Amino acid sequence: MSTHSIKTVAVLGSGTMGNGIAHVFARAGYNVILRDVEQRFLDRGLETISKNLDREVKKEKISAADKPLILARIKPTTDVAALAAADLAVEAVPEQLDLKLRVLKEADAALKPGAILASNTSSISITQLAAQTSRPEKFIGMHFMNPVPMMVLVEVIRGLATSDETFAATMSLCESLGKKPVAVNDAPGFVSNRVLMPLINEAAFCVMEGVATPESVDAVMKLGMNHPMGPLELADFIGLDVCVDILEVLYRGFGDPKYRACPLLRKYVAAGWLGRKTARGFYKYS
Ligand SMILES: NC(=O)c1ccc[n+]([C@@H]2O[C@H](COP(=O)([O-])OP(=O)(O)OC[C@H]3O[C@@H](n4cnc5c(N)ncnc54)[C@H](O)[C@@H]3O)[C@@H](O)[C@H]2O)c1
Repeated sequence: MSTHSIKTVAVLGSGTMGNGIAHVFARAGYNVILRDVEQRFLDRGLETISKNLDREVKKEKISAADKPLILARIKPTTDVAALAAADLAVEAVPEQLDLKLRVLKEADAALKPGAILASNTSSISITQLAAQTSRPEKFIGMHFMNPVPMMVLVEVIRGLATSDETFAATMSLCESLGKKPVAVNDAPGFVSNRVLMPLINEAAFCVMEGVATPESVDAVMKLGMNHPMGPLELADFIGLDVCVDILEVLYRGFGDPKYRACPLLRKYVAAGWLGRKTARGFYKYS
């Protein structure tokens, strides 16, 4: 499957990442099949896409006339059989191994034999996911960043069996979306989370040990290291539960205690302080 033969893309899951991924494919001219399990999740995803397109019109990134054309390219469905029309599918369902395996097997059975199957997982092994499908050589990681319409990076992860052809097609596909793909090999946390999560974890230890307040930790990193967001602001944005889950993957994957999640992160998660999504994490949000 070469890039120019990819015309229709299926996106599995219309949540935070899925609706962003559908948005960027439709904006770049691809036909999109957006699949979720219930109509209300699709409605919510489409509403988000519509709002985000309005923002792009306001910022003059697209014209007002483009918006209905982009929306018209997205076909929402709850029917797995609709995937048969896709040349590529990107899975963006929640980060739970059992669920991902079920969704990927289902997609593998519905897709045509030549189609590429990609996962947007943040931390699960691409090699492991690929092995559960009938097309490990056509399986790849496409790790988009949140918010997808704005963030330029796609971390492209090659599983052990990913073919050169699949890899090349995926890299040029990302470029056709106006993204910058960066290739990495399959390893726990890939590069993005292997480097980011220990930073967030150490920042949480600084707060737990009374070295500094969250505001001070973030100020040091923003003013001293030129980070656009402090690590704790970023942790609240990602979700503290998601951070703990990824640290678990690193801890188990490497068997190295340096990746153990900070007890304060665990305590916040136990309290339901998950960050922005619950209006409370290291910071309070109104
Ligand atoms: N949120 C982030 O910042 C971020 C960043 C990079 C990667 N990721 C990864 O992206 C993936 C999705 O994360 P998210 O934040 O978008 O999750 P989310 O919970 O916002 O969305 C997941 C969607 O998948 C749907 N879904 C569940 N079961 C399904 C099924 N069987 N078929 C189709 N859809 C189904 C849910 O209804 C929901 O709409 C995860 O693997 C996550 O690790 C997330």
